[in-house]
Amino acid sequence: MKNFIYSIPTTVYFGKDQIENLGQAVSVYGKKVLLVYGGGSIKKNGIYDKVTSLFRECGISWEELSGVDPNPRIDSVRAGAEICRRGGLEVVVPIGGGSSIDCAKVIAAAACYDGDAWDLVLDGSRIKSALPIVAVLTLAATGSEMDHIAVISNMETNDKLGTRADCLRPKAAIMDPTYTETVSAYQTASGTADIMSHTLESYFSNAEGYMQDRMAEGILKTCIEFGIRAVEHPDDYEARANLMWAGSWAINDFLKLGKPVPWSVHPMEHELSAYYDITHGVGLAILTPHWMRHVLCDRTVEKFRTYAVNVWGVSWELSPYDAAQAGIEKTAEYFKKLGLPDRLSEAGIPDDKKFGIMAEKAAKKLKGTYAELTKEEVEQIFREAM
Ligand code: NZQ
Ligand code: ZN
Repeated sequence: MKNFIYSIPTTVYFGKDQIENLGQAVSVYGKKVLLVYGGGSIKKNGIYDKVTSLFRECGISWEELSGVDPNPRIDSVRAGAEICRRGGLEVVVPIGGGSSIDCAKVIAAAACYDGDAWDLVLDGSRIKSALPIVAVLTLAATGSEMDHIAVISNMETNDKLGTRADCLRPKAAIMDPTYTETVSAYQTASGTADIMSHTLESYFSNAEGYMQDRMAEGILKTCIEFGIRAVEHPDDYEARANLMWAGSWAINDFLKLGKPVPWSVHPMEHELSAYYDITHGVGLAILTPHWMRHVLCDRTVEKFRTYAVNVWGVSWELSPYDAAQAGIEKTAEYFKKLGLPDRLSEAGIPDDKKFGIMAEKAAKKLKGTYAELTKEEVEQIFREAM
């Protein structure tokens, strides 16, 4: 296990009606808020009305940035930062999934930065400060409510890039699992795949961490148990609660402390979203089994066997390769059972014309990963997934 510093300071208000704490959680940082949200789900399910009535009660004034797209755009960030600067706003409150929260994070940083917001996406080291963020989570998936990462797209250049800085981690997160009961089966399944992928990205590391890996296996088993339950029974509170909490812990740094590793499948998926605007978790669910099959070799087989046995209940009696392959096939079957497409062609990618450039961009981000891949290998994975 490598050295690390443990600090995961987000205050989490978890459970039914925890929204009642929002006014107090925000007031610690200020009384002038930018509300950031997406295409309107929060108006349909009543969360918007609840939040704004709490703000009125607590004497909090607010302005709004709405219409944040899934795969949030840099233009939304620029617009939000401008509202913050013009109004002297003090706190940014995203309500939604990863897209609204990520957008809010870069808004919060851009409001404190003199240049163009895209600079902060290209180079997170330019983020020196940010307005405080208090997130209200409505979709269990990205873990953005408790991590220091934001992923922003620039559709003009077909770039979808992650940026990170400690000051982007939300100061507080309101996590009421009932808020996720209106999430569609498709987004629930996609969110489950995303949580599993975050966990796997840290699990498959060349550095060791026995304890972290057992925790990771627990999170994966939680997703397997409750992902399908939430898809089939949207109002199953225990399913929604377990997914929501698993989502935060999959990526809040805990699993990777002591065994850091650059991620493998996410950089490949981000190229799919950047060029074809597909749903992030769907791209991950399609690519993950192909990536696993591709990197399975004598060096990695024991790790894949452990994964198969501990997560999927595959027999330890099988040969290492048989066990490893059974675990990989069970992963693919589970994503199918969730109702997710298993081919890129089914997910809105019409042909392979852009695979070359996409693979080139992804390969640049795959240095030092669990199993380094060349541009040609990434392209091959895209083709196999088509
Ligand atoms: O926009 P609205 O109307 O709110 O609808 C959203 C959106 O259409 C809907 N939704 C959210 N909560 C809902 C709901 N619908 C009904 N009821 C609710 N309670 O779901 C759709 C998807 O929302 P989005 O926020 O885009 O989903 P997600 O949370 O999966 O976020 C995806 C984005 O996060 C990035 C992804 O790349 C993608 O851009 N990621 C962020 C990460 C991070 N910050 O650490 C890491 C991840 O790996 C990921 O890259
Ligand atoms: Zn992800």
